[in-house]
Amino acid sequence: MFRLYRERPTSLKQRLLVSRSRSEEFWALRDVSFDIAEGSSMGLVGHNGSGKTTLLKCIAGILRPTAGTIRYRGRLAALLELGAGFHPDLTGRENVYLNASFLGLSRRQTDRIYDDVVAFAELEDFMDNQVKFYSSGMLVRLGFAVAVHVDPEVLLIDEVLAVGDESFQRRCLDRIRRFQSEGRTIVLVTHALDVVRQVCDEAVMLDHGRVQAIGAPDDVVRTLRHRLLSDDPTFVPEEGTREVEISGVVLESDGGLRDTVHPGEGMTITVDLRADVAVPDAAVSFAVVSASSNLHVLEGKTSRLGVRLGPVDGKKRVRFRIPPAPWASGTYFVSVGLDSPDGRLFHVQTQHYPLTVPDVDNVPHALAVEPTVEVEDL
Ligand SMILES: Nc1ncnc2c1ncn2[C@@H]1O[C@H](COP(=O)(O)OP(=O)(O)O)[C@@H](O)[C@H]1O
Ligand SMILES: [Mg+2]
Repeated sequence: MFRLYRERPTSLKQRLLVSRSRSEEFWALRDVSFDIAEGSSMGLVGHNGSGKTTLLKCIAGILRPTAGTIRYRGRLAALLELGAGFHPDLTGRENVYLNASFLGLSRRQTDRIYDDVVAFAELEDFMDNQVKFYSSGMLVRLGFAVAVHVDPEVLLIDEVLAVGDESFQRRCLDRIRRFQSEGRTIVLVTHALDVVRQVCDEAVMLDHGRVQAIGAPDDVVRTLRHRLLSDDPTFVPEEGTREVEISGVVLESDGGLRDTVHPGEGMTITVDLRADVAVPDAAVSFAVVSASSNLHVLEGKTSRLGVRLGPVDGKKRVRFRIPPAPWASGTYFVSVGLDSPDGRLFHVQTQHYPLTVPDVDNVPHALAVEPTVEVEDL
């Protein structure tokens, strides 16, 4: 609970007269209760102001909750606000030693990790400068480098990774994966929902300080996305009469990957449907929406593709084959719908199925272009 002071006594006289200024209680977190299994990675998501940072600060012991308890076991390292825990007037080197000592490392233990910290942060030339002269990227690099080298059992990371450049982010992700394989526990706050889906074992979504969703990252990310979409009053995540139901949807790339397709690859969308009572006909449709642009990048419908399902009585399977396409990397969501020839909605699942197109820019591949050459007399 934070106390919000609406009126600030400005003059000394006012301050003496108003012994207590009026304040309001504000609960940044309410009824938040969950366990994080040892060795697992929890993604913490939610819109700005939903309470993520406050929760991490409570876990880290920087804030003391007004009510409730938090328990953890082992050494905990936290990477919260930019530069938090660093003393601006001390040098990078001094700050590494200071931070490590806060985390319980002796001077000699710090000596042993020091070179690795500096190398990871790529700050060899700056360790004798005061950190107040560091850029935000340098601060994040040093903060992350210290946090991952002090051998923590629990690592809290708030957003900060977004500050570093791409190669640093990649190294951070590598390091996070190594941490996971070593059985350490991670709580990761990020707006990069792809990272949550790819890295975390579980996710929690906060909304106005309350747990709005908890569970498999795909499901939580979908809930958050629906929440964001639901600012649009016309948005309905799932609807229809259910005379015919979508009983399963599988997204599979030609390379055999689930929920993933590489740029230039083809894929299949398989839709299983089920009717408990026979219907004379139905049409199956899908749409692929880009999460970043919200544009429909691809659509298909059986009737438009010249295919008639005919009577549906029991189960049927429909396969849409998508030829190799120049997919842009990023996250997409696939909507699937069933309707009758006269336009009655049987079952529609809007943006229910996530699809990832990995960023393969850094993978060298043959360039399908022919060079030309010119010769000039000089
Ligand atoms: N020190 C504080 N005093 C008063 N209100 C605060 C303080 N810190 C955070 N809040 C409020 O608590 C809510 C949650 O904030 P925060 O945990 O930073 O959210 P998030 O990290 O999810 O963006 C916000 O409404 C914010 O304004
Ligand atoms: Mg925050």
